[in-house]
Amino acid sequence: MTAHSTEQQREAAATPPPATVAMDRAQAAPAPAAASILALNNIEVVYNRVVLVLKGVSLSVPKGQIVALLGANGAGKSTTLKAISNLLHAERGEVTKGSILFDGNEVHNLSPNELVRRGCIQVMEGRHCFGHLTIEENLLTGAYTRADGKAAIKRDMELVFSYFPKLAERKNALAGYTSGGEQQMCAVGRALMSRPKMILLDEPSMGLAPQIVEEIFEIVKDLNDKEGVSFLLAEQNTNMALRFARYGYILENGRVVMDGDAKSLSENEDVKEFYLGISGGRRKSFREGKNYRRRKRWLA
Ligand SMILES: Nc1ncnc2c1ncn2[C@@H]1O[C@H](COP(=O)(O)OP(=O)(O)O)[C@@H](O)[C@H]1O
Ligand SMILES: [Mg+2]
Repeated sequence: MTAHSTEQQREAAATPPPATVAMDRAQAAPAPAAASILALNNIEVVYNRVVLVLKGVSLSVPKGQIVALLGANGAGKSTTLKAISNLLHAERGEVTKGSILFDGNEVHNLSPNELVRRGCIQVMEGRHCFGHLTIEENLLTGAYTRADGKAAIKRDMELVFSYFPKLAERKNALAGYTSGGEQQMCAVGRALMSRPKMILLDEPSMGLAPQIVEEIFEIVKDLNDKEGVSFLLAEQNTNMALRFARYGYILENGRVVMDGDAKSLSENEDVKEFYLGISGGRRKSFREGKNYRRRKRWLA
């Protein structure tokens, strides 16, 4: 991370993220909830009443930061985000254990709408735009929870266009006919129209060309810096995510197997070998990594 607003620096100084890589979440103390905008404590999720997919996930996002939730396909990233925003019911999933605090309050039983009203919104994987609506109409649908009038909504639309000039150019185009990158921008822009304090962003890089991904991540960074929006960023693209996030958690099989600040994670040998594609990728699991096993023996 490079430039931060002074307010963020002050906050960061008051609540530094843990500097070391904690290898075993079961034995690590949960992060303090006070300065967190989001704190998950020991979350379990079951699908169809039988399939245990999240097996005690704890994580926290300090106010005003970008935190990455990393892991391979099927690790449980989307499930974690949907557990937070209460979107599991539609998929016969349920949080069976643990607590979720947003801005200091338990939000486990809130409807997705109520959570949006309180400032936490998810941008789903696969950029769900309404294909038959224009970009501008799509953005307006993002303001549905607001009651502060047309003028304020119009101002925020201009704000979205200032962050995403491509959306301004394409505002009268049907979203279904715009590019993948424009649709992802539209999905993030629509979330912004709810005036969020926090966005849960699920795999924004999926299926997009590297320079488009770069462009989108730069905008996310800008929104974080200038508007103070906090992000929990689920990504398989570890390399890219760690360039923009300050802190990261690595999920494997529904468990956090490692967490640390972005720099220590991207320099970690196991992460490099397994997620940054630096070795031949012979191993089947992150947990088989040399450093992880060595550390496990220490802890045992
Ligand atoms: N609706 C569902 N019903 C049953 N199992 C599911 C459902 N959605 C996801 N899963 C399973 O949960 C695991 C985690 O999936 P997901 O959270 O989508 O992972 P990720 O986003 O990291 O790719 C996978 O094994 C997946 O098959
Ligand atoms: Mg996913």
